[in-house]
Amino acid sequence: MRILITGGAGFIGSALVRHLIENTEHEVLNLDKLTYAGNLESLTSIASNSRYEFVQADIVDQAKVSAVLARFEPHAIMHLAAESHVDRSIDGPSDFIQTNIVGTYSLLEATRAYWSKLPAGEKEAFRFHHISTDEVYGDLHGVDDLFTETTPYAPSSPYSASKAASDHLVRAWQRTYGLPVLITNCSNNYGPFHFPEKLIPLVILNALKGKPLPVYGDGKQVRDWLFVEDHARALFKVVTEGKVGETYNIGGHNEQQNIDVVRSICALLDELAPQHPAGISQYAELITFVKDRPGHDLRYAIDASKIERELGWVPDETFQSGLRKTVQWYLDNQEWCRRVQDGSYQGERLGSTDPKDLIA
Ligand SMILES: NC(=O)c1ccc[n+]([C@@H]2O[C@H](COP(=O)([O-])OP(=O)(O)OC[C@H]3O[C@@H](n4cnc5c(N)ncnc54)[C@H](O)[C@@H]3O)[C@@H](O)[C@H]2O)c1
Repeated sequence: MRILITGGAGFIGSALVRHLIENTEHEVLNLDKLTYAGNLESLTSIASNSRYEFVQADIVDQAKVSAVLARFEPHAIMHLAAESHVDRSIDGPSDFIQTNIVGTYSLLEATRAYWSKLPAGEKEAFRFHHISTDEVYGDLHGVDDLFTETTPYAPSSPYSASKAASDHLVRAWQRTYGLPVLITNCSNNYGPFHFPEKLIPLVILNALKGKPLPVYGDGKQVRDWLFVEDHARALFKVVTEGKVGETYNIGGHNEQQNIDVVRSICALLDELAPQHPAGISQYAELITFVKDRPGHDLRYAIDASKIERELGWVPDETFQSGLRKTVQWYLDNQEWCRRVQDGSYQGERLGSTDPKDLIA
């Protein structure tokens, strides 16, 4: 197959691209705008493979996306491009509306024009796979409640509202135009190449520098963590074996309170990086509670039984094994982290050394 991936330079997208190139025979075109979250240095291991191609483009630019579709002639599109950080969506929702809603609309229209001209057999076999989040369901209050594929949408943040809107557009393009779509809603991912603004890499990197480890509110918010490579395998299963029109929830059965995640990272670092920064003898001494995020959801937890039952996917990693791999990866890949944190990953791409261009 020829698979077009949007957002393939991001955290999950790059794991998916690496998975497809390393473990399958498919051809991949990665279409990415390269916002601050896009990092081609996450793809160096496969960048020179003849089955891989990168195109810098904005999904909002329908003419450019249409030209790429006409040339590459994909059998499937896996749509991951999005603005994805909740805190940024609170500070400035505009980019989220633009990329997540307008961009998805634009991509759907370019795809519909391309798909509608395919010969009958190829038209039927074509797939548009939209990658979404469990945050569209809002939050859970009962300790045993789980999000299923039929849980009503109740998004809380500008980020999750924009993702919910994009899910609705994708479903409407199937109902109205017959586009063969699949939707997946996944819980919080973690793993290698995660941008250091997100909780797990932020805590690891701050701890190593002896900086405070910020925990929102009382830290009792529960998230259901999934190792990113397990997610990539699940996405490939869904695009190749999923039933058209269906939604699949993807989760790791790893519910953890944020404070416990931070404490687990500290314990792993005590073991794996025992030379503590000056002034502390245990990394947990750096934990600092900060004012809670507005609209902060209390608990997310996924019922992933449908994808397990129908497609036979289960995660390989437990939270303990995945977190150990993740902490070790950050210890072994300080150069990747340094280049993200000082902005040089982006400055060189822009061909600029002006400090204003290096600010993410
Ligand atoms: N990270 C998670 O825990 C998680 C969980 C569930 C679902 N998701 C969803 O998975 C997808 C990928 O998430 P991620 O964490 O890898 O995000 P990310 O922020 O790491 O990467 C997003 C990528 O999209 C690109 N992009 C942004 N705007 C674009 C545009 N207008 N045109 C083309 N490319 C653009 C960026 O350059 C970047 O490479 C998102 O749709 C997100 O909503 C993420």
